[in-house]
Formats: sequence, C-alpha cells, structure tokens
Amino acid sequence: MSTTKALSLLVFILFVSLVHSSDQCPINSIYQFGDSISDTGNLIRNGPASSPTPKPLPQREHNVFVNFGVSGSTALNSSFFSERNLHVPATNTPLSMQLAWFKGHLRSTCHGSSSDCLKHSLFMVGEIGGNDYNYGFFQGKPMEEIRSYIPHVVGAITAAAREVIRAGAVNVVVPGNFPVGCFPIYLTSFPVKDTKDYDDNGCLTHLNEFAMDHNNQLQEAIASLRKEFPDVAIVYGDYYNAFQYVLRSERFDKSVALKSCCGTGGAYNYDGKRPYGAVGVPVCQNPHKFISWDGVHLTQKAYRFMSKFLNNQILSQIKCTRA
Ligand SMILES: *[C@@H]1O[C@H](CO)[C@@H](O)[C@H](O)[C@H]1NC(C)=O
Repeated sequence: MSTTKALSLLVFILFVSLVHSSDQCPINSIYQFGDSISDTGNLIRNGPASSPTPKPLPQREHNVFVNFGVSGSTALNSSFFSERNLHVPATNTPLSMQLAWFKGHLRSTCHGSSSDCLKHSLFMVGEIGGNDYNYGFFQGKPMEEIRSYIPHVVGAITAAAREVIRAGAVNVVVPGNFPVGCFPIYLTSFPVKDTKDYDDNGCLTHLNEFAMDHNNQLQEAIASLRKEFPDVAIVYGDYYNAFQYVLRSERFDKSVALKSCCGTGGAYNYDGKRPYGAVGVPVCQNPHKFISWDGVHLTQKAYRFMSKFLNNQILSQIKCTRA
C-alpha cells in the first residue's frame, strides 16, 4: 500500500492556487515534505537504496515547487520501527532524510542569507506520519501500542518544522492525518461486527478517533511552536475536516463514497491481495465519480474539493511579506 504508484495531486493543486493568488501574497516557492500523498514520482525516480537528489517540479520563471516527499515515508527514523520488530521498506525516506536533502538543496541554490532566500516560500511539513501508524496497524500491533507512537511521531514532525523555521521559513503548514477509518483499505482490512462501531458515514469510528488523537496532539504541539516562534505563520492543515467536507458534499454519490475507484471485489472494491497496479486489476473508467482512487489515495476530483476547503484556511493565515 505504501509503495503504490498513484500520483497524488493535492499539493500541486494547492500550489497552483497559491501561485494564482500571488498578486495578494507573493509566495514564489513551495517546499514539500511528505509521503505518497505528495509524491509525484520520487519513489520511482529514486529506485531502491539510492541517495537521490530531489527534482524540483515544476520549474517556472520565478515559481518553484521542490518536492522531497517519497511514498511510504515515515516521520520517524527507520530505527524506531526495527526496535519494535516492525518491517519498513529499505526505500523508507524518513523526515530526517528529507530535511537533509532540503539543506543540501538550499546550499546549492541559495547564495545569500537563507532567510532572504526563503522569505517568500511556503513549507508543507506533511502530511507525514500516517505510514508510521500504518506499519503498526498492518503488521498486527495492538491499537494501544500504536497509540503510544503518537507523541514520537508528533515530536518528529514538530522537530522538522522547527528546523525549517531555523533555516528561515516564515510560512509553515503542518497537515494532520486523514480520517483513515473512511478509507477502503482500512474498511476492508479492519472490519468490525457491531454497526455501532461505524459512524453515520459508514466510517470506522475507532480508526477515526485514532487519527483525531494524532491531530489533537499535533495541534497542541503547533500551539507551542507558535509561542516559540511568534513571527512565523505556523498553520495546521486540517486534512481531517477537509476530507469530511468532501464526504458530505453532494458532488459524490453516497453509494460509492467509501469505494475504491480502481480495485476489484469486496464491499469497498478493494482487495489487499490484488491492489491497484496488480496484474488483472482494471484501471477505473470514471474517477470523477469517486473519492478514493486506489483505496489509499484520493482522486484528483476529491483533492480539488479538499483544496478549496484548505485554501481558505491556509491563505488567511500565511504571512505576506512584500519586501
Ligand atoms: C534520525 O536520523 C538522523 C540521520 O541519521 C539523525 O540525525 C537523527 O538524530 C535521528 N533522529 C532520531 C530521533 O533518532
């Protein structure tokens, strides 16, 4: 699931919106850290066990989108998982490694003070952390044990935000986790018998509560960061409620809202043994009707709606330094 080849365009849509709004607020570059939610090809480009350099995409005259996100990446270092007998792929590119790439990139592209180079930039520190929990859930760790990872994951995300701020970032978005209990992969993998354990939308309550637990701790950490750096805009990216907004929207037929577009079989059109990309699994014909693209990632249409919700929040909070 973590190595899916799906290209996720949420961040790209945010980027286009921000560049369009640049008359009001001169943001000219975005630096993205993350996992498959933002990866538009880094995992495939890097291949296994290489030491890659990120590819800035797309390069316009003054607008730059530098994407360090890699599918399957975790907020925590791989050692955290091996110490707990959890397997993470050799391609895992933890946040600490993405930060090292960022610093190398900055050294090679910024020839003055890094604060000057970064004052018109927006930093997306995530979404990341979802995989840290996925590796636990899908390798059979009990919920309470996985819950104990949350402070570590939040600590790693906060530490990354602090590092980019120290490098000169003045606009930092830190997204939370999705309500993963509404995702076909979880609905299929962790079914429960009692209908009370599903919410009104048909999502798994205990998994959404887990995501909320992460998001609440993350928001508390962001509140402390704001006190630490009062001159920096540190914005919580509310992916949880942005997704709920999509789920409630009239644009998607309720009968397919929790189903994967690409996939085969089962109540959610998702089969972990035959996921999207496996031989014989069809590519879906009508992604505009679906929220979930492959059971794990969303369709461009869903991301477009999410970005509407998010742009309002993010644009109203970022700093518009004109100098
Ligand atoms: C994670 O790994 C990086 C690079 O090896 C290291 O600098 C950092 O201290 C590690 N972080 C933790 C929390 O162990």
